[in-house]
Amino acid sequence: MVTRIGMFDSGVGGLTVLNAFRKAFPKADIHYVGDTLHMPYGDKSPEKIQEFSRQIARYLCSQGAELIVIACNSASSWAYQEVCDAAGPIPVLDVVRPVVRFLANSPQLTQVGLIGTRATIQSGIYPTLLKAAAPQIHVEALPTPLLAPLVEEAIELRELNRLLIAHYIHQLNTESIQALVLACTHYPVLQDIFVEVVGPNIQVLNPGEVLAEECRLNGMNFEGTGSLRCEITEYTQAFEKTAERLLGQPIQLKTVQLPA
Ligand code: DGL
Repeated sequence: MVTRIGMFDSGVGGLTVLNAFRKAFPKADIHYVGDTLHMPYGDKSPEKIQEFSRQIARYLCSQGAELIVIACNSASSWAYQEVCDAAGPIPVLDVVRPVVRFLANSPQLTQVGLIGTRATIQSGIYPTLLKAAAPQIHVEALPTPLLAPLVEEAIELRELNRLLIAHYIHQLNTESIQALVLACTHYPVLQDIFVEVVGPNIQVLNPGEVLAEECRLNGMNFEGTGSLRCEITEYTQAFEKTAERLLGQPIQLKTVQLPA
């Protein structure tokens, strides 16, 4: 049985995955790394995203992780194989493949909107995997690069967030899409604004919740003490402030320098 999960993202976004996991598995012990030194991943080259992800995966394994969760779409898109290679026998979960499986198992869906970082959208991973798993689904994809930095820095500026979300959503054909994938783990922080902007007829998908639900349905079980170890690669006030808000509790943050 797995108890210790190693989870990572570039910053606070992965905490939406962490929250979904904690809700589904309150006893899981989670070691979270936010790579604030390199945030945002969304504008980095595939090689850089692979290098950072490999480094974090090795570190999490060296610290006793029994399962790695890539809580970042950009890293899931570009570095899934690299993380699997670095983790060796330790299983790896990501946030792209469960969403693809969820969509493929939703027979009513034919038109899906997808927003994410430039790295995720340019990887073409969702349309590629969906073409094989559910060829009936057409994906309308849009890079929304300003959103993750805004979430990281200023979730409290709701009007600004709403304006930016509306600006991006109006570029999608909302008349025809039936579901909107928030393909960046930072975005579900603003899920209520997305729901309000797209209206009641479009299902808004949070990848962390989709992943946690898939784990639950697969009978996964975590029997730890529900502990959280939270580390970042460079101290930023923004991370501390936003993380405490998202977790709803004060956190003990440690800054770590990852071995190359
Ligand atoms: N939260 C991340 C993602 O899911 C990365 C955002 C970023 O660092 O650009 O893609």
